[in-house]
Amino acid sequence: MMSKSRKSGTVSRKDAKEQNKRLSLSLRAFAGKLPIFLLLLGLFVISGCRYDMQDQPKMKPYRGTKFFRDGLSSRQPIEGTVPRGFLRSDTAYYTGKKNGASPAASPTPGTAQPGNAQANSYPDAVDTFPFPVTKEIVMRGRERYDIFCSVCHGLTGNGDGMIVRRGFRRAASFNDDRLRQAPVGHFFDAITNGWGAMPSYAEQIPVQDRWAIIAYIRALQASQSNPATASASPSPAASPSPTPGGRE
Ligand code: HEC
Repeated sequence: MMSKSRKSGTVSRKDAKEQNKRLSLSLRAFAGKLPIFLLLLGLFVISGCRYDMQDQPKMKPYRGTKFFRDGLSSRQPIEGTVPRGFLRSDTAYYTGKKNGASPAASPTPGTAQPGNAQANSYPDAVDTFPFPVTKEIVMRGRERYDIFCSVCHGLTGNGDGMIVRRGFRRAASFNDDRLRQAPVGHFFDAITNGWGAMPSYAEQIPVQDRWAIIAYIRALQASQSNPATASASPSPAASPSPTPGGRE
């Protein structure tokens, strides 16, 4: 309309006045609503800026990525490097086995002969502690044993812990001949990988503490091996030995 009137050059004063009036009126109306407008605009902008922590750009475990050419978001260690704390060259310490090669070298405890031949049931298990055992280690082992093992194996290792008394499968007695003669590596294996009905405790118990517990079990075995008391009280029935096939 403006352009039309400018072209024709016939904008009267009255028209201009009228227009000014209308403009100022609408401006005033707008000014009245300005705070609301600004508020809405502000809300709009703020909501646009919202950036939740859960949406931050990060790699999620096992979720692929287009960023790396191989599509893996978790990176492989660079060849020839070892992450700090992961150098596990000491096989005996970290696996309790001499070769550490085959965890499937399944022992057959049920069929083993009595006596020293017993140790041969676990041919790959180490039979000495991979470090010198001190009193502190045994005390630490006692603390950990009481927390993690006594509930099933009992405070003296007879396999009569509270959970067993409440109906769980009878846990092995550490005080029978078979486990007295079993090499330490066998205990390490049981804690690390579980044994029959017993679950693995590798997640809960760090390697050093597993050895400490075994040191304490040896102390328990020595403390319970008095032949006089052994014959006086009927020893608890030996736990049924799991067959290799029954190992989960
Ligand atoms: C939830 C109960 C439970 C807990 C806790 C438990 N065990 Fe056991 N453990 C068992 C049972 C049950 C067996 C016997 C397995 C079977 O017969 O199926 C067993 C067997 C064993 C054996 C015997 C292996 C063999 O040759 O017969 C060893 C060694 C052993 N446990 C060590 C430990 C140590 C060390 C701890 C503590 C870190 C521990 N267990 C904690 C239930 C438990």
